[in-house]
Amino acid sequence: MGESMKGMKRTHYAGEVTAAQLGQTVTVMGWVNKRRYLAGLIFIVVRDRTGIVQVVVDEKRVPAEMYALAKDSVRGEYVVAVTGTVIARTPENVNPDMATGAIEIDVQELRVLSESEVPPFQVADEDVATDMRLKYRYLDLRRPEAQRLMIMRHQAAGSIRKFLTSEGFIEIETPMLTNSSPEGARDYLVPSRVHPGNFYALPQSPQQLKQLLMISGFDKYFQLAKCFRDEDLRADRQPEFTQIDLEMSFVDEEDVYALTEGMMTTAFKDVLGIDIPKPFPRMTWHQAMERYGSDKPDTRFGMELKDISALVANSEFQVFTGALESGGSVRGINAEGCAAMPRKQIDTLVDLTRTHKAKGLAWITMAEDGTVKSTISKFFTPEQINEIAAAFDGKPGDLILLCADKNPIVFDALGAVRVAAAKWKGILDPKQFNFLWVTEFPMFEYSEEDDRYYATSHPFTSPLEEDEHLLETDPAAVRSRAYDIVLNGYELGSGSIRIHRQDLQSRMFAALGFTPESAQESFGHFLEALKYGVPPHGGIAPGLDRIVMLMAEEESIREVIAFPKVKDASCPMTHAPNPVAAAQLDELEISIK
Ligand code: AMO
Ligand code: AMP
Repeated sequence: MGESMKGMKRTHYAGEVTAAQLGQTVTVMGWVNKRRYLAGLIFIVVRDRTGIVQVVVDEKRVPAEMYALAKDSVRGEYVVAVTGTVIARTPENVNPDMATGAIEIDVQELRVLSESEVPPFQVADEDVATDMRLKYRYLDLRRPEAQRLMIMRHQAAGSIRKFLTSEGFIEIETPMLTNSSPEGARDYLVPSRVHPGNFYALPQSPQQLKQLLMISGFDKYFQLAKCFRDEDLRADRQPEFTQIDLEMSFVDEEDVYALTEGMMTTAFKDVLGIDIPKPFPRMTWHQAMERYGSDKPDTRFGMELKDISALVANSEFQVFTGALESGGSVRGINAEGCAAMPRKQIDTLVDLTRTHKAKGLAWITMAEDGTVKSTISKFFTPEQINEIAAAFDGKPGDLILLCADKNPIVFDALGAVRVAAAKWKGILDPKQFNFLWVTEFPMFEYSEEDDRYYATSHPFTSPLEEDEHLLETDPAAVRSRAYDIVLNGYELGSGSIRIHRQDLQSRMFAALGFTPESAQESFGHFLEALKYGVPPHGGIAPGLDRIVMLMAEEESIREVIAFPKVKDASCPMTHAPNPVAAAQLDELEISIK
């Protein structure tokens, strides 16, 4: 049910009607945010994407029929059209918290364009369960805050498009139905009807295609590219997401850094109005691990890792000496000012280290009154404990956390503990934006499980020239020309200078365990393209979702995606993924096991 809007034309958005329109006749259209009745007066608050405005229906000034309509047939979330005169509110009714709070619209014409059932939750309600919100995401998206985030995303994307265009980049679309490009995650597969038993893969990224576009001579390419990865969801991971994918020819790292810094600072200026200093600081992967235990360090605070292996090497404590004997280390952080952390909270830190495969976490609390307590006091004299504390510049009020294990485990565990301690202490300011380049990633990661090397980023990444000769003899020592752009502890984007020589690309595949035949099978078209004149090239792909999430000070990328998936990769609204009709499967010659 609903009337036609014929003869009425919107003149203003709700949020735009201010004192500047006093005395004018305006028409607004939108949803009924709230309705109040007060002795012969009905107040209807109309909402659209710009804000809200109050409409008043005065029994004494409108036909009885219209008053009755307003009184009996207008409810929350109905869609209405209103024409009326902008009048000043009486001083006691002025609402300073409302952009349009100085005025209201005195109704001349009111129509209900569409009715609404009682919605499953109040749009304004903050405490709706996530599943409910996502099941009715279209209602959830009526919240001004949700709309603000979508608009912010639009502004960020617009700013980036404009910037890259002004820098001479050409936006080129690459196919969604393609073959698999290895980015380390599982592919989403799409069965072919015409070629039964064959599958397309949805792109994990347009990596090979953008490199082929460099071979074609486009020189500077970009795309706001949808990417698909069948991996476990996390707060900063969705199965489909958007990359600002870009690639440039005849460039080195410095060109990519400068371009990316320009793009990021412009977007932050355009969207948030803030100036972020350039150039961004840089740190090698090795330094990042040593200092922060992470390849995406949050540099908004200190609590840096220190290696105390030498200090404890001759101790009686088996856990420490054992770790050292097996080639590991003993490291720790000073969680400054965290001495008052309750035992329960410390236990969550211990659990956290366990999720990172560490066997434990030792601590020394240095209370404000000077007493020092430690989980390892059985194994160390008070002097030795003080010596360890001194190595961390421990002062009364500090909490020192120690971990002994193999290096990668120690880094991972302490890296996570460091961030958790800072969160507990409440020292992370979401309005501070610490960009950082992490450079010289190791070329390969060894997987004990599979007993083979994997490319840390992807197989098209160029090794550092001075390490190239180690590809066959000492792969673990090869550093790459890969870099990440990091913001406040999040990996915003990865990129690299690519391999542009076919011989080197073939050696790279060999190092990854491909035979010439299997490399040919998986990457034949790409290896062939490398024969036909390849410019040196490189690029990067920052994730749009993560950028907007941080701009918006949100903790989940779900908030900045219109229709996100939940933890099990399903959509609570459409229920995708769904079973399909038997006829559809027959056509594809697929049967379900
Ligand atoms: P990479 O795999 O590191 O690099 O991805 C680049 C950026 O994409 C974003 N991202 C994601 N965002 C949300 N959900 C996900 N599941 C997800 N996975 C990745 C992150 C990440 O930093 N082809 C290379 C780039 C290149 O070398 O140019 C690539 O895809 O922000
Ligand atoms: P245990 O003798 O194994 O109970 O260990 C005594 C204390 O040593 C524990 O309470 C922890 O605080 C600490 N600890 C155990 N394993 C480790 C480890 N791998 N790294 C640092 N501290 C540890």
